[in-house]
Amino acid sequence: MPWKRATNCAIAPRSSPSNQRNIARGPRRDKSGPEAYARGMLGAVKHFDERAATWDDDPAKLARAQRTAALLREHLPLNGTEQVLDVGGGTGRLSILLADAIADATIADTSTGMIEAATQKIDAAGLSDRFRAVLLDLTVDDLPEERFDGAWSQLVLHHVRDVDLLLHRVREVLKPGAWFAVVDLDQDADGAFHAHLREHHDGHDSHQDEEFLVHDGFDRHSFGERMRAAGFERVTVHDGGVVRKEAGNQDRDFPMFLAIGHHSAD
Ligand SMILES: C[S@@+](CC[C@H](N)C(=O)[O-])C[C@H]1O[C@@H](n2cnc3c(N)ncnc32)[C@H](O)[C@@H]1O
Repeated sequence: MPWKRATNCAIAPRSSPSNQRNIARGPRRDKSGPEAYARGMLGAVKHFDERAATWDDDPAKLARAQRTAALLREHLPLNGTEQVLDVGGGTGRLSILLADAIADATIADTSTGMIEAATQKIDAAGLSDRFRAVLLDLTVDDLPEERFDGAWSQLVLHHVRDVDLLLHRVREVLKPGAWFAVVDLDQDADGAFHAHLREHHDGHDSHQDEEFLVHDGFDRHSFGERMRAAGFERVTVHDGGVVRKEAGNQDRDFPMFLAIGHHSAD
């Protein structure tokens, strides 16, 4: 079994009452360093744990996954033999939609709730011989021994504190010539996409604002440069469609990009 939890994993046990107190009512502290990282992870993990069971009930999320699946079919050379890593795969919906185009998928996520939901959906889709869901944070956990033909990730990297580290570490688990396809938000200058999270967290009802890190999207061209700096080659950046979402009492379209980089082909 190649998957191993690292001893320095920043995800603390969620059942611990003292941890729950920290999330709910702890005083504001430094926003950097390992402790802050662990608190930020706890906030994010709790947020996604709470939403995992009903995540796919939202027709907008299903439609988004369908559009991204179509985009990946268009841009990736899928031939049915690929072993794919879905980074922050959540309920696994995107990979399940692409099941006919690949050999197998490993859905990696830091939320136990998401892993449970993904496992149920994999079983329901009759894919348990080819798909699996694993609790894994590629920025802190030991890397798997397995090497993948490709990786994809939808709307995850804006939740990752050290994006450059994640890019480096994803590259490490790819085979030569393999690709990493990232779909994420374009720069959201006024922070409208995540405004609801800030309001919710500022209210201190279940999280603190700094406990749940988000980047307000990325400048797509700078993101391409970051992929190159992480060692990816033949990086291309494309339109990734839009996420339609209510913001400021009206529906808004938030544009996304698709960035694809390749591990060197040596
Ligand atoms: C907005 S959701 C997107 C889920 C899925 N990719 C989708 O499009 O439906 C972000 C996901 O990223 C996961 N996540 C956040 N930080 C992560 C990390 N460092 N490593 C792996 N997954 C992470 C969360 O638990 C959550 O499931």
